[in-house]
Amino acid sequence: MSSEDRFKGKTVVVTGAGGEGATPRNRRAPQAGPARRGTGQVLASEFARMGARVVAVDLIGESAQRTVDLIAKESGDAIAVEANVASTAEVDQIFERAEAAFGRVDIVVNNAGLGSLAAVVDTDDALWQSILDVNLTGPFLISRRALPGMIDAGYGVIVNLISIAGIVGGRTGAAYTASKHGLVGLTQNIAVAYGGQGIRCVGVCPGLIRNEPVCAGPEIAAATENRLSKGHATNFRAGTPEEVTAVVTFLASEAASFINGAIIPVDGGWTAA
Ligand SMILES: NC(=O)c1ccc[n+]([C@@H]2O[C@H](COP(=O)([O-])OP(=O)(O)OC[C@H]3O[C@@H](n4cnc5c(N)ncnc54)[C@H](O)[C@@H]3O)[C@@H](O)[C@H]2O)c1
Repeated sequence: MSSEDRFKGKTVVVTGAGGEGATPRNRRAPQAGPARRGTGQVLASEFARMGARVVAVDLIGESAQRTVDLIAKESGDAIAVEANVASTAEVDQIFERAEAAFGRVDIVVNNAGLGSLAAVVDTDDALWQSILDVNLTGPFLISRRALPGMIDAGYGVIVNLISIAGIVGGRTGAAYTASKHGLVGLTQNIAVAYGGQGIRCVGVCPGLIRNEPVCAGPEIAAATENRLSKGHATNFRAGTPEEVTAVVTFLASEAASFINGAIIPVDGGWTAA
């Protein structure tokens, strides 16, 4: 099977598919100028190029539509859905739109994320809640809505975009680290609970990716920067959305049929140091 056919006949939901970066600044409006190649956008485009029907979900409908337009230019099949992954009602709408357009959802990629470098004392209630909502509650709500159809079909794959912040404690902010550690647990729990029913759930943990710094909270305090810099000194280089996407598409494919519950760093060796 050529890579163009890898996902033929499969429907893939990609969240954060506008690829506008995990920052609130970017969530207000799409960036002017040439399209950013954010991870979500590269993921959606690659799945479409490999034959999947893609449901491109983003909080910013315009940026999801821009991804769909790019896919259409290359003769791919995709629809855009504007939705907040942290809302149960909006997650329902994602699946209603997906099922109406394409039928059953086979693969879900939980990519939407919100970053913060703020340490505990600099993290107010609203920041804590917003990070947990998008990074942890979002994948939970999406998985809960996707799983019944996957169980009926005896087939499904959920890939969670985590971060090395899900594996180590000291490379980014408190809320972000806690949310991504939680997502590691959710990934492994789903893998074990549903693995016997033909469903796989895996996590990908990117290091620093060269599209946008993952920083959303209040200005990073000097003290936090000093603490983080120890871990940052061991980062050999930043990666690209394409390098992350190559791993996600492999994990979602049948070539990875015996990989379930794995948490895979894609960080150029950062967490090995
Ligand atoms: N960029 C990095 O260096 C890096 C490193 C490690 C992990 N990650 C993780 O990878 C994923 C992608 O990050 P990225 O920085 O490449 O971003 P990205 O370019 O893929 O853009 C993320 C998208 O998510 C959307 N989004 C935000 N909140 C949403 C919500 N509530 N509902 C729906 N969509 C929402 C944004 O509008 C944006 O378009 C995230 O989960 C992030 O935590 C990123």
